[in-house]
Amino acid sequence: MDIYDDFFETLIPEDQILQRCKELGAEITEKYKEDGVIAVGILRGCTLFYTELVKHIHCPVIFDFMFVSSYGNEMVSSGVVKIERDLETNIKGKNVLLIDDIIDTGRTLANLQEMLQVRHPKTIDICTMLDKKAKRESFVQVDFSAFDIDDCFVVGYGLDYKQFYRNMPYIGKLIDGKQPALDQFLSKFE
Ligand code: IMP
Ligand code: MG
Repeated sequence: MDIYDDFFETLIPEDQILQRCKELGAEITEKYKEDGVIAVGILRGCTLFYTELVKHIHCPVIFDFMFVSSYGNEMVSSGVVKIERDLETNIKGKNVLLIDDIIDTGRTLANLQEMLQVRHPKTIDICTMLDKKAKRESFVQVDFSAFDIDDCFVVGYGLDYKQFYRNMPYIGKLIDGKQPALDQFLSKFE
């Protein structure tokens, strides 16, 4: 029993996430071992996954981050992608790996990948912690993915509900019918 159990049930426990990060790290190392990679984290959702994953990439890595807004505080995609904070690294001729928390409609990453292509990186690949394949609206080639999940609302390990729960150390699924009680609870902290 923990503080999250009133509203969320465990979908993916922490040990499974850690294990998949090790495996993905090995795959990523294999792909970029010749000339390294710029690991681009998509803030804020990437944070926990990013920090765990990069520990297992054993080739030269440069850190950079982008802040992209797509959802606001809602549970449905707005379809609008805006770069709030751009890269600091020049990606021309480099391998770029976009690292995100979840791909839902795919709009965010499809748009972002297109925006970055004009800077002529050598390669631009996508790594996601979670893939909600059933919700896809825009085509995105996912090169590395830790888990496929069904269409449900999840939080934790970087993912938020109204900016809360990103620090939850595993992936939790919102229990059916609990959203009104959750909103009531969070209203004290907003
Ligand atoms: P897309 O453009 O629809 O692929 O949106 C991806 C973004 O939507 C993610 O980076 C998340 O911020 C957000 N998102 C999608 N599904 C969920 C979810 O189940 N929980 C929390 N955030 C989500
Ligand atoms: Mg996000």
